Amino acid sequence: MPKLTIDGKTVEVGAGKTVIQAAEQAGCFVPRYCYHPGLSIAGNCRICLVAVEGQKKLQIACNTQVSDGMVVHTQGEPVEQGRAEVLEFLLANHPLDCPVCDQSGECDLQNFYMAYGRYDPRFAEQKVRKPKAVPLGPTVMLDAERCILCSRCVRFTDEVSRTQEFGIFNRGDRAEVGIYPGKTLSNPYAGNVVDICPVGALTDRDFRFKARVWYLSSSPSVCPGCSKGCNIDIHYTLDRPHLDDGARVMRLKPRVNPEVNQWWMCDEGRYAYKAIDRCRILKPRHRGRALGWETAVLELAGQLARIEPKQREESVAVIAGTNLTTEALYLAARLFGEGLQIRNCSAELPVLPGSHDELLIQADKNPNRKGAELLGLAGEKARPAEPWIQAALDGKIKSLWVIGEDLAARFGEETVKQLAEKLELFVYQGSHENGTAAQAHWVLPSAVYAEQAGTFVNCDGRVQALTKAFEPLGESRPDWLILTALLTRLELPAPGNEPAKIFEALAAAHAPFAGMTYERLGLQGLPARLDGAGGLGGPAAGAAAKAERK
Ligand code: SF4
Ligand code: SF4
Ligand code: FES
Repeated sequence: MPKLTIDGKTVEVGAGKTVIQAAEQAGCFVPRYCYHPGLSIAGNCRICLVAVEGQKKLQIACNTQVSDGMVVHTQGEPVEQGRAEVLEFLLANHPLDCPVCDQSGECDLQNFYMAYGRYDPRFAEQKVRKPKAVPLGPTVMLDAERCILCSRCVRFTDEVSRTQEFGIFNRGDRAEVGIYPGKTLSNPYAGNVVDICPVGALTDRDFRFKARVWYLSSSPSVCPGCSKGCNIDIHYTLDRPHLDDGARVMRLKPRVNPEVNQWWMCDEGRYAYKAIDRCRILKPRHRGRALGWETAVLELAGQLARIEPKQREESVAVIAGTNLTTEALYLAARLFGEGLQIRNCSAELPVLPGSHDELLIQADKNPNRKGAELLGLAGEKARPAEPWIQAALDGKIKSLWVIGEDLAARFGEETVKQLAEKLELFVYQGSHENGTAAQAHWVLPSAVYAEQAGTFVNCDGRVQALTKAFEPLGESRPDWLILTALLTRLELPAPGNEPAKIFEALAAAHAPFAGMTYERLGLQGLPARLDGAGGLGGPAAGAAAKAERK
């Protein structure tokens, strides 16, 4: 383990590490353009210059290996002058586009110029002109004049997406980035090149000119697009309706989690935010007539209570979706299973086939199937829910409560129409209008993932927290709140009136979550205790949870 000194701080790093990595460990920031921890080292931009004692010339931190006893300075006159000169070259042909550039406000050319620039440009010649506003594919736009030729985009498509669209063509100040003739940038991870481009050369066609980044708020969350659970930041604006349809979310960005998605996310997940504000169910309704929550909860609790306990066991079914938060699934089991003694309560439906790859995208498009499995609501231990549809059509099941699962998408609109005719009570609790909402007798509007706190467990068993970005649309409410209101109305014990409390109750009752709290999950999540290993507590915590449950 080489020991070195960086800006007076002693730091011990693994052999083979570079100075930029050691500096990060020591908490000293070194500017970078071409360096990206998820890509191979190019060492071509030269902005990461540092002084190493004993070396006559400044060294690039991203491609200098650490050695024992090394003394490094990341600040000071020679280093800063070196960076200023690098910037002078980078800006020689750079257009004065900042006022109209989407990257403005989050651009490292702006940021480092403010930190190390010369501020007195000496370049009086005509700038080299290059192609501007070139669509590279459905999602990405290129402005070749803004490019600083860091080659991050080239390395991303060579090393991560392995689709090899990008190249750098020509020589000298005529060199420019582009895609190979006949290629289109349409790979499933194309949007990531916008995130890693340190300047405004690659911009997102969807986000272009929509909002200035300094007006955006950000909330950490988890993508609900598939069971991978990529970590994301939701960028939204509430007071500046830039879009005609008044949508609040402006874009999603991947959030680094080395255990899940590293630095990346797929385009399908990235652009799925558009569904958040479209076709939402905004008010509770009964047979097409809007009504208040109080009335809806009162009426439905009354109907459930009036069903004979013996009948409840067999003639009622509850189907919960594996897109619900773990907290909502837990409350559904407590309300319908433990509380009302309904045996037919499950989230076990066959997983519909979907696209899949080796990088991130999972065929299972449900973000919380693993969570449902850990609670016993899906998987081998759970009762399969599919036969209940036929049982309802045959008149054996008389009441059906569906949460977050569109039966029409699975079984067809005609089947759902027949269900509505046969059933005595048919409730749909969900966020969006769909074939099931159109037929159900009762419709209860739920919040979407961005409007509530909660957890999802990803396909690898990692428990990850969602945070609430903004209030639910219209009168919709988080599922945990709807289920808590029903528990309270039915005088059944409710574990608390906030997601953190519900999660604590769930963690005390289910060993895979033993010892977990929202605080402990933090922003990176924790592995659930799947086979007596991992998680927070191990066997001791599992035993403690059991004892607490007793
Ligand atoms: Fe780097 Fe962006 Fe140019 Fe690609 S387009 S080489 S990421 S500056
Ligand atoms: Fe979302 Fe799955 Fe895509 Fe990740 S891989 S961004 S979780 S859809
Ligand atoms: Fe080191 Fe580019 S970041 S040379």
